[in-house]
Amino acid sequence: MSDVKILAIESSCDETAASVVVNGRDVRSNVISSQIDIHTLYGGVVPEIASRKHIERINQVVQEALDQAQMTLDDIGHISANYIENQDLEPPFGCLVVSGGHTHLVLVKDYGEYEILGKTADDAAGEAFDKVARAIGLGYPGGPKIDKAAREGDPLAIEFPHGKVRGSEYDFSFSGLKSAVLNYLNEKHMKGEEISVNDVAASFQKSVVDVLVEHSMHAVNEFGFKKFAIAGGVASNSALRTAMEEACRRRHVQFYRPSPILCTDNAAMIGAAAYYDYLKGIRSDWSLNAVPNLKLGER
Ligand code: KG4
Repeated sequence: MSDVKILAIESSCDETAASVVVNGRDVRSNVISSQIDIHTLYGGVVPEIASRKHIERINQVVQEALDQAQMTLDDIGHISANYIENQDLEPPFGCLVVSGGHTHLVLVKDYGEYEILGKTADDAAGEAFDKVARAIGLGYPGGPKIDKAAREGDPLAIEFPHGKVRGSEYDFSFSGLKSAVLNYLNEKHMKGEEISVNDVAASFQKSVVDVLVEHSMHAVNEFGFKKFAIAGGVASNSALRTAMEEACRRRHVQFYRPSPILCTDNAAMIGAAAYYDYLKGIRSDWSLNAVPNLKLGER
């Protein structure tokens, strides 16, 4: 079969991205135009501004992706980011998708075939990072800033609750944890006591990472996964990467995680996902539209 070249475009949140991916895994270009600078001014993503910026930048980004690839011419994507750098990775495997909008524990049965084992009942993990970062004055984007501050802090300094849902072993809940951090800050403030931003960051991060790893490893044990992957913006969190790697190593499970550039929203992962849809004969016509609340694996 001749090479399948896919021009993939990703513009779901605050990045405008285009990529040329050959045969699903060979990334010829991966251009990302971030809007972080603009949204930082407002302390978060302003959808109206984001959509306007996508329109302004899309042509340039696509052209650059084509130029770099020397051509003339979605969560699912996050999971597929792992195929790009791990040519040996094939389903079935377990995957934790943790981004600004999703927290999903997924059984990847086959290319494009997923079973959701658990998800968040409220905030996504990335959302919790962003909200807590704002509360402790670190600003946007919160995840990388908490990650950095946490390296200087003590993860055992404050005991925050773990984001579990009672009676639901694979589901998550982060709004209680967020409230606990806010209450802690308020209390300290009322008493006129000093707050260690680094300790709050480290303790909050530990609480999130603990529960993500715990639920993931529970799924590994129950389903007997031999391979486990992480994906999405939060997958670039250094504490999560280390903890997950160690937990997998102890269970002799092969661990996969994309490079940070492929964890964030990017179009190369969309190209990887699209390739397997293409092989299955899945096509869309011009009536295709954006469905903001499409579930994983739904079309
Ligand atoms: O996947 P992504 O780039 O965008 C979507 O949500 O689709 O994920 C962005 C999220 C943000 O909430 C950001 O704060 C978080 O990923 N994030 C991190 C880190 N880097 C990005 N969270 C924790 N630690 C990080 N190092």
